[in-house]
Amino acid sequence: MNARSLRVGGLTKRFQLPSGDILAVDGVTFEVAEAEFFTMLGPSGCGKTTTLRMIAGLESPTSGTIVFAGQDYTRVDARHRNIGMVFQSYALFPHLPIFENVAYGLRVRGMAADDIQKRVTRILDLLGLGGLAERHPGGLSGGQQQRVSIARALVYEPGMLLLDEPLANLDAKLRVQMREEIRRIQRELGIMSLYVTHDQEEAMSVSDRIAVFNLGKLRQVGRAEEVYSTPATPFVADFIGKANFLEASPLGEGRFRLTNGTTVKPRLALGLPADEADVAGFDTVVMLRPERLRIDTAGGKVPCRILRRQFLGGIIRYSVEAEGAKLALTVDAPRDIAGTGEGAQAFLDFEERDAIAYASGR
Ligand SMILES: Nc1ncnc2c1ncn2[C@@H]1O[C@H](COP(=O)(O)OP(=O)(O)OP(=O)(O)O)[C@@H](O)[C@H]1O
Ligand SMILES: [Mg+2]
Repeated sequence: MNARSLRVGGLTKRFQLPSGDILAVDGVTFEVAEAEFFTMLGPSGCGKTTTLRMIAGLESPTSGTIVFAGQDYTRVDARHRNIGMVFQSYALFPHLPIFENVAYGLRVRGMAADDIQKRVTRILDLLGLGGLAERHPGGLSGGQQQRVSIARALVYEPGMLLLDEPLANLDAKLRVQMREEIRRIQRELGIMSLYVTHDQEEAMSVSDRIAVFNLGKLRQVGRAEEVYSTPATPFVADFIGKANFLEASPLGEGRFRLTNGTTVKPRLALGLPADEADVAGFDTVVMLRPERLRIDTAGGKVPCRILRRQFLGGIIRYSVEAEGAKLALTVDAPRDIAGTGEGAQAFLDFEERDAIAYASGR
């Protein structure tokens, strides 16, 4: 990484409540490069906001360190960190026009009026808000209001931009538009950005790298392709995309036996974390993506029964039951397969190189 990177080391936050302690963030370590778009992804309550708030200085870590551009930020007051933050709620001043909403913080800091004029105009133009400067927030759409709140964070020219689910209040179509917009601005300014979402598609579409969180722990950091094709744990496999798990038992030398007796040698065998046995359903599993499974009526690795067949336009999605699977498996086929109506018996087949085994230490 480089001199202007962000380094978070062993970051931990324990909240003490009368009802007991909550370990909200548990020893999280990662590094973000200058100008990188870095996304924290995970289910509700996994510690994303708490991590972001510690980086912003709005929450003090129980332990761990935060270093930005070579400076130890761990105990630095939020006002003295060179950071801009955008939240889910826009929290604009309703009685002030857009221009003044964005200029507000600069005026409070006593910046000269000329400089304020220049900076605010530039940032409003960058965000496509130039024509709305005199309007009040009440007259703006949700997307426009969120754009104003981004302008307000960027007008300080921060070294880092933190965004906590900034699109959560927008409808689906606008969310897609706005995420592209945020990515464009981020690229144009070359500003390091930490983005929080629980939407995996959003994360995959805009990020340079994705950090997947679960239960306060960082499970994996990588490019979207890496995380999708080689998930570090069953949770990651199931959270990014859809994952099918088949029970397996280890035979040694990277080979595994499925419950119907078939032996397979997956591309990789990784450790199954003790707290993820529930996700996978068994102590040891073989994971396969829906588009890597095939249904064949003539034969294959695992016998199965078709439960449901759905035509989804680009693909046909089968739901099947098979020995050694706790849940119905999902198979995405590019075209219809003869003899695979609901209730039919068939076989599942796959390439060994498309399988990943997760084996418990026991
Ligand atoms: N101020 C607080 N006091 C006590 N517990 C808290 C506090 N803030 C967060 N928590 C708890 O810490 C855990 C992590 O919360 P956090 O808000 O970081 O999750 P999140 O990943 O942002 O979730 P969401 O997607 O719902 O926003 C949760 O169990 C939450 O209830
Ligand atoms: Mg949150």
